[in-house]
Amino acid sequence: MSAIVALMASAAEAVPYLDESLPVEERIDDALSRMTLEEKVAMLHAQSKFSASGCPRLGIPELWLSDGPHGVRHELNWDDWDYAGWSSDSCTAMPALSCLAASFNPELARKYGAVVGEEARFRKKDIMLGPGVNIYRTPLNGRNFEYMGEDPYLASRMVVPYIQGLQANGVAACLKHFVLNNQEHARDRFDVEVGERPLNELYLPAFKAGVTEGGVWAVMGSYNKFRGTHCTHNDTLVNKILKDQWNFDGVFVSDWGSTHDTREAALNGLDLEMGSWTNGFNWSSNNAYDTYYMAQPLLAMIRRGEIDESVVDDKVRRLLRLRLRTNMDRKRPWGAMNTPGHLAVAREVGREGIVLLKNENSFLPVKPGKRIAVIGENAVRKLSIGGGSSELKPRIEISPLEGLRARFGDENISFSLGYASGDPNFSIELPSKYDADSLRVAALETARNADMVLFIGGLNKNYRQDCEGDDRLSYSLPFGQDSLIADLLEVNPNVAVIIVSGNAVDMPWEEKVPAIVQSWYLGSMGGVALADILSGDFSPSGKLPFSIPRRLEDCAAHSFGERGYPGVDEQFYYDEGLLVGYRWHDTKKIPARYPFGHGLSYTTFRYYGLEADRKQYAPGDTLTVKLTVTNTGPCRGAETVQLYASQKNPRLPRPVKELKGFRKTELQPGESKEIIIRIPVSDLAYYDDTMQRWVVDDDEFSIQAGSSSTDLRAKARFRVAGSLAAR
Ligand code: GLC
Repeated sequence: MSAIVALMASAAEAVPYLDESLPVEERIDDALSRMTLEEKVAMLHAQSKFSASGCPRLGIPELWLSDGPHGVRHELNWDDWDYAGWSSDSCTAMPALSCLAASFNPELARKYGAVVGEEARFRKKDIMLGPGVNIYRTPLNGRNFEYMGEDPYLASRMVVPYIQGLQANGVAACLKHFVLNNQEHARDRFDVEVGERPLNELYLPAFKAGVTEGGVWAVMGSYNKFRGTHCTHNDTLVNKILKDQWNFDGVFVSDWGSTHDTREAALNGLDLEMGSWTNGFNWSSNNAYDTYYMAQPLLAMIRRGEIDESVVDDKVRRLLRLRLRTNMDRKRPWGAMNTPGHLAVAREVGREGIVLLKNENSFLPVKPGKRIAVIGENAVRKLSIGGGSSELKPRIEISPLEGLRARFGDENISFSLGYASGDPNFSIELPSKYDADSLRVAALETARNADMVLFIGGLNKNYRQDCEGDDRLSYSLPFGQDSLIADLLEVNPNVAVIIVSGNAVDMPWEEKVPAIVQSWYLGSMGGVALADILSGDFSPSGKLPFSIPRRLEDCAAHSFGERGYPGVDEQFYYDEGLLVGYRWHDTKKIPARYPFGHGLSYTTFRYYGLEADRKQYAPGDTLTVKLTVTNTGPCRGAETVQLYASQKNPRLPRPVKELKGFRKTELQPGESKEIIIRIPVSDLAYYDDTMQRWVVDDDEFSIQAGSSSTDLRAKARFRVAGSLAAR
């Protein structure tokens, strides 16, 4: 019987790999045994901008991938970066992950992931390209809005439930960008030199948590290099750490255009090559798929015996396993799109992430009946579009101005643009179609005739702002906002500044304004979430997921000359080591303008009775830390108690303190609650690079409970007796 007939016959008979009563690994073995070499290799790379081949002959489906972390991106064309113009692909735009991180609410992260997973499932996507957990190292990084801040413990606790909520819908999350993609500048070329300790204690933990606790089904390699080799095919990172040490059994995907060598890609753990011949942002070449590194070139190397077919088999196993978890699982949920429930979660995340930085004499919330002047482009600008691959086409996007008008009544709200930033993407403060002076004059007149001003500005998704592909060139607010704020204060001192951004910005006007709010890209329900907080209907409860330095030079990454940022000859040196963010501010005694973990409420909280359940622990024990929090103020509010651990005499240098626990709890006025937080002693370990393993010293430790990383209100001391080996 001819081969074709044999192949046709094999497709017809009932086959184990489709038998859902069999164990997954058996089904994988069976499918693999039926595939030709050509069919296997065809699965290892893209067939279009956002899809990868299946095996049509065996009924093994294609994989469809979509951005991004904040919602399901609108459909692109098969073979170029233009949008396909569908009318059925508008989504719920969730707040940016920087906002989710600021909520310090892991259960909310699960709900967030579930919304993205349901919408992705409904849109028939199999892999969602997010979440991103690259550590916030410099406030200039164009993509910090897509990530979860400067602290690995916070990012770890928030990313795990996000992944689980998303994957419960039979859609793979794809943790990115693995690893050290902490800036956008020269992202596809720069090489990072970083010590073993910061690598293990800062930059890897959130990825490790996503894999080992979150059970993530895909991980994306980053564009940059690590110690001279591209992260997308780096033996140390992918084979040794991700796949061996962490037992990752999912698919390792390249970033779009981050693959550069067939042999390295094949042997160093890349399973799926996407987007080669494109920078993943704005240029590409058509129909390159057969020439991808893991396409014909790989096939040729195998045929020449230069690479063993077993290398391909492991990749195909992972790709089949991901399909059995997603589009070959007939029992997975059906998903949903643009539901009222999704919008409610978007609003809740926005509300819980907004951070009140300053509030002199209870300037906020806005008192009823006030005539309010809303000034600033971010009061009306659509901010879900732009910013690169995470951009979305929301079905609904309520602007701050719309939300404030709905809440306070049109008659109490006047508006003036104040400044303009030009069109999104590729414009760096291009002269807008408006005349700056006329905008300023109009804004001052509007402010003069109001009781108070809500200035809503910040950054936006323009290129070289909060945008993929490059970084900001300055720490300052763009588009003339600082001088406009100064002018507004001259005509009306009652100005609250609301910064909409994914990054810290300079605040030269800080002392003069009575209230400052750090808001975020809030997505579909942004305006109502902001109005919920500014009206006092809800008390702000967000906490900063990153430090806001007084000056850029106060930031670790900018304290070592060009080596630290923007790099020298495309080489970055993370000379600050472990001291990123509050770790730097604490240890170098350089106070931040607003510290990590800071966030005010409209009410106040008192902490008392902090205690650890024992005075001494063995290395394998778990601490139980208790304290009571009381709402001592006038209204309902939620407080996030943060626990920072310090070691007295570490064998190797450690930061002054490190976040090792947090708990958010809502309290009515006068209400008290006992907070119980458990911390495994092994979480107090540091990475001993001389022994290449985690160690807990036999030493004195303390736990401090704080409302921020500097507002520390109680301390408990304890001892660890006996040191702990590897973890
Ligand atoms: C981009 C981004 C990545 C995104 C991918 C697909 O270059 O770096 O985060 O998922 O390409 O758009």
